[in-house]
Amino acid sequence: MNKFAHINLDNLTHNLNIFKSVSKAEVFAVVKANAYGHGDKEVSKHLDKQGVLVLCVSSIEEALNIVEDVTADILIFGYTDIESIEKYHHPQFIYTAGSLNWINQLESLSTQVRLHIEVNTGMNRFGFKKKVDLQSALDTKHHIEGIYTHFTSSESDERVTQKQVENFKSIVHDLDYNFKYVHAGNTHGAFKNDPLFNAVRIGIGLYGWSVKDIGLKPVMSLYTQVVHVDVLHEGESVGYNQTYTTDKETYFATIPVGYADGFDVRNHGLDVYIENQSYPIIGKVCMDQSMIEVDGHIKVGDVVELIGPNRTVGTISKHLNVIPYIIYTSVSARVKRLYK
Ligand SMILES: Cc1ncc(COP(=O)(O)O)c(C=O)c1O
Repeated sequence: MNKFAHINLDNLTHNLNIFKSVSKAEVFAVVKANAYGHGDKEVSKHLDKQGVLVLCVSSIEEALNIVEDVTADILIFGYTDIESIEKYHHPQFIYTAGSLNWINQLESLSTQVRLHIEVNTGMNRFGFKKKVDLQSALDTKHHIEGIYTHFTSSESDERVTQKQVENFKSIVHDLDYNFKYVHAGNTHGAFKNDPLFNAVRIGIGLYGWSVKDIGLKPVMSLYTQVVHVDVLHEGESVGYNQTYTTDKETYFATIPVGYADGFDVRNHGLDVYIENQSYPIIGKVCMDQSMIEVDGHIKVGDVVELIGPNRTVGTISKHLNVIPYIIYTSVSARVKRLYK
């Protein structure tokens, strides 16, 4: 095993507690997409032990993956087809109702299921738009336990978020229904402490990233080990398509990670670290291996930091020009997760 993601569960608890105190609401933990790459089973088990009441996933397949490990309810954000509910329904599952048409189809089910209604206040991805449809949806025989909306720009545009809040509040007010949960905030929307909202759905913040400095701690760090060291002579090139050629005698080391592990080709230009010393990537990142320029004392087995204190997810995402969510969720199944 020569590539491993350390998952620090104490830091996950630390982050959870920060969101509990910031939002003053029930914290639903978002564990979709393999808990943002951190491992859905272990992360869900840990959050369940911490007393999280609702875990959120994107599909019934993701819900099935964790249901045997937790006592928490599992809110499914995405569309669930009726056949899957008939086949796989579990009492801990809560489905998102995204349209009147879907709710009407659900009436044919013999079992009564639990629902949260999603209201589309600007995301235009999923959810009810018309008040008249929402009003009709409330007549369902199923148990409507919650209502929610999703912010489009909570990390970047206060004005847009506030408009969504107002729109959502007016809809909830007009429905005049006793919902157990009314929720809107994600990581960056959790700061909207409107008295109407009694829950927040936190994803990336739990894993340690926020645009705000609120004392979060990173949960994942990613390391590999040098598997090969050799010397290049003047005029020799490295990797596919000769994109790097040395003009002097140079040591290089190979690390067993590439783009199929989630180590994107655009990492080129952002040094990796061995014992806090930076080393540049040379040549193109391959599917399974990458090469770095080193000095004479680097040897096989040396540990290389790919995500960690010297190479944070924030720095990497800026360099790659992608959102941090992509960095976390790209770490592939080939990378062993180690929990502590
Ligand atoms: C409906 C919904 N709620 C909450 C979240 C969590 O968002 P964040 O990771 O920004 O906290 C997501 C993530 O995409 C989502 O789709």
